[in-house]
Amino acid sequence: YIDAVIFDLDGVITDTAEYHFLAWKALADQLDISIDREFNENLKGVSRLDSLELILKHGNRQNDFSLLEKETLANQKNELYCHYLTNLSPEDILPGIPELIRNIKEEGILIGVASVSKNAGTVLQALGLNLTFDYCVDAAKIKRSKPDPEIFLTACEKLNVDPKKSIGIEDAVVGIDAITASGMFAVGVGNILDKADYKVENTKQLEWTKIKKAYTNLINVN
Ligand code: BG6
Ligand code: MG
Repeated sequence: YIDAVIFDLDGVITDTAEYHFLAWKALADQLDISIDREFNENLKGVSRLDSLELILKHGNRQNDFSLLEKETLANQKNELYCHYLTNLSPEDILPGIPELIRNIKEEGILIGVASVSKNAGTVLQALGLNLTFDYCVDAAKIKRSKPDPEIFLTACEKLNVDPKKSIGIEDAVVGIDAITASGMFAVGVGNILDKADYKVENTKQLEWTKIKKAYTNLINVN
């Protein structure tokens, strides 16, 4: 009765969400804009250039740079981010994720990745997970970013599954909105994701039996 589970990458499979934050913070500091972890929640799941726009707006500097200058700033952030990625190894897969993937696969359920990151392939490779998923949708394969459902719908389409019989797992507010808009069951990782159908505080708590139970309960109610 469940066709597929689609995972967000940064912040769900591995803690690259932290590296994104550190790299943005370094850039923001340089621009005299102060960003903290609370503000960073708005950046999760948001594309590179859109994230930069949010940061500039936050510092009231959205009109200070040309498009070319913004691209240079975004590249600068990406270089620092990629520098952090060089340390990434299979040990950086978040707790609970390997078991979760194993349990899902044991039931013959398909798994996919939906990440708006242009670095998604590099990250999956570094984690040793490049052959684990049945399909991965990254920034290159979509036109519209989360919260648009396109990325999750594309994953379902490529896996040939019904979104209504599929589950998405996210750590970002816009990600939960994208899953919900696609008609899938939304699992949220983190404290701020009140709109999720099922919520856990961290990946360790992502137990397949509990997720299935929550999904079944919701289906039975509706
Ligand atoms: C998302 C992250 O997965 O990818 C965002 O949650 C990030 O923080 C976005 O900005 C784009 O990533 P990249 O690697 O293309 O800059
Ligand atoms: Mg994420």
